[in-house]
Amino acid sequence: MINFIPEEKVQEILERVSIEQIISRYVSLRQQGQNYLGLCPFHNEKTPSFSVNPSKGLFYCFGCGVGGNVFTFIMKAENYTFAEAAEFLASQAGILLADNKLIKKADKEKNYLIDINTLAQKYYHYLLVESSKGKKALEYLEKRGISSNTIKEFGIGYSLDDWESLINFMKKRNVSLSKLEQVGLISPSSGNNSGYYDRFRGRIIFPIYNLNGLVIGFGGRIIDDTLKAPKYLNSPETKIFQKSKLLYGMNIARDEVRRKDLVILVEGYMDVIAAHQKGIKNTVASLGTAFTADQARMLKRYTDNVVIAYDADEAGQEAALRGLSILHENGCKIKILTLPEKSDPDDYIRKHGPEKFIHSIKNQAVPLIEYKLRIAIQKNNPDALEGKKKILDFIIGDLVEINSLVEREYYLRLISSKLGVTEQVIAAEIGKYSKRLQNIGANRDKKVIVRNNSKEKYLFGESVQYRVERFLAKYILENPQKIDWFQESVGLHLFQVSKFRFLIASLIKYIEDNEISDRFNFKAFMLTLPEESQSILSQLLNTNEDTYSLNDCVYIIKNNWYKTQIENLKKEISAAEECDQREVVDSLVLNLIQLQREWKK
Ligand code: CTP
Ligand code: MN
Repeated sequence: MINFIPEEKVQEILERVSIEQIISRYVSLRQQGQNYLGLCPFHNEKTPSFSVNPSKGLFYCFGCGVGGNVFTFIMKAENYTFAEAAEFLASQAGILLADNKLIKKADKEKNYLIDINTLAQKYYHYLLVESSKGKKALEYLEKRGISSNTIKEFGIGYSLDDWESLINFMKKRNVSLSKLEQVGLISPSSGNNSGYYDRFRGRIIFPIYNLNGLVIGFGGRIIDDTLKAPKYLNSPETKIFQKSKLLYGMNIARDEVRRKDLVILVEGYMDVIAAHQKGIKNTVASLGTAFTADQARMLKRYTDNVVIAYDADEAGQEAALRGLSILHENGCKIKILTLPEKSDPDDYIRKHGPEKFIHSIKNQAVPLIEYKLRIAIQKNNPDALEGKKKILDFIIGDLVEINSLVEREYYLRLISSKLGVTEQVIAAEIGKYSKRLQNIGANRDKKVIVRNNSKEKYLFGESVQYRVERFLAKYILENPQKIDWFQESVGLHLFQVSKFRFLIASLIKYIEDNEISDRFNFKAFMLTLPEESQSILSQLLNTNEDTYSLNDCVYIIKNNWYKTQIENLKKEISAAEECDQREVVDSLVLNLIQLQREWKK
């Protein structure tokens, strides 16, 4: 398995394969102007909204919003990692990947760290299943209902209650102390012979694997819960272990996640292990930390549907709420299962069996708004006026986002019955809130950046400003040689939509960094962008909605900017007047006059 694909190889692949040929094996495409059109393979549709742009090497679906380059496509279509997609595409193009000279030193190092972990995993596993010293640990696992097959499947092990046992084992295999420290298996100490001590002592060891099933880190659990030590100890962040980017169990869950088109998200090692042992194999864990956007993106490669089944305690509830918004922002459809008090999925499955667990996943998990409503009602009194207001405030942002009328009616009814407020009043509150959002969009200061794209689109709607920025962004990205013109006659500071501003800013930076004179390598530029922006860029370049003259664009954009600035200044002036701050008023008025003069020019 190749873990690292050098940049040059990626470039070569992109240049040699033709995206429309690769995609046409999955989708029947018909040419339309410069692009190709077909039925999207990633969602169900009857009219084609899936577009491929061969000259830019991009695809985009206007139905479900999936987009990217040929790598993205293959990764999605075949459920491949980036490296696997590269291997596949390279073989299509007759390119040899396994060229040792090209594999960078850094990645050799990473591979070595993984080798050390693999060795450590074998050692710990041996101690658990074959050595008499692991007896107590094995008994503990048995007591918790974990079978020997499961122990094998998850590679579970045991670390001796000893300061230097791993150090001694590794010494015999010529692994240096500094490498062991780098991989987080040992820590420096003054009291020991070697000057180091083992990180994991007297703990059950859960190896943590990456998507390719390679050991990148460990979690260790104490056996005796009465001990004062922390229940779990994990590998520290290392070159190969980043907790925020991984999901425990994903390597063995991903096929099933895709098949079921659903992932069950739990908190801990034991929850994943218990679920898998009982055949619920689309389960992964976020390992008790705050859920991150990287993790959301990883899930989205396999499914959009997430059921969160966190522990039924306060911490689990808080974690679920935070995870919710990240998953929601990344376009996942989320449901939340609330387990009976003081239990987690592991307890639940052991007590009630896997069928009952699956049944509750299917029938008792509730969508985001309902969950938030439930939490809000727990925390506030729905019979008191103040409580009603607080509860509605807590969910109104989500209510506004519902486009389906049927869904909206459902929630209006639900909330009305829970709060004893009429549906009309709730609908009116939603209307008010939505107006307020639009006003924020119209008046907001240019310094305010709205990060959430879906919200941003909402705020701006398809305003003229938004359309003009989209048109200009597309024009500049298609004609990068015009960047100087852009900077002189428009300037990035006039852009209000952050996703377009970010794309152009990235282009400017790319051109500066690469000193491009005449030949611009679009595909190389694309690769410098974060995944999310790649998708925005694909969408942009596959859009053919508006045409404006460049002069009109410049005029509209400048005009809007001055208008906003002047409105803001006027507000500041009247605020300063109210507080009787004469000097401030005077200087603001001067600014205003200056701005108005510039505007008229
Ligand atoms: N965790 C951690 N450090 C701790 C406690 C928890 O890293 N001191 C992480 C672990 O990844 C753990 C997860 O948070 O799996 C969830 O914690 P918890 O629910 O307490 O653990 P369980 O996995 O349920 O383990 P057990 O059933 O053995 O208590
Ligand atoms: Mn537990």
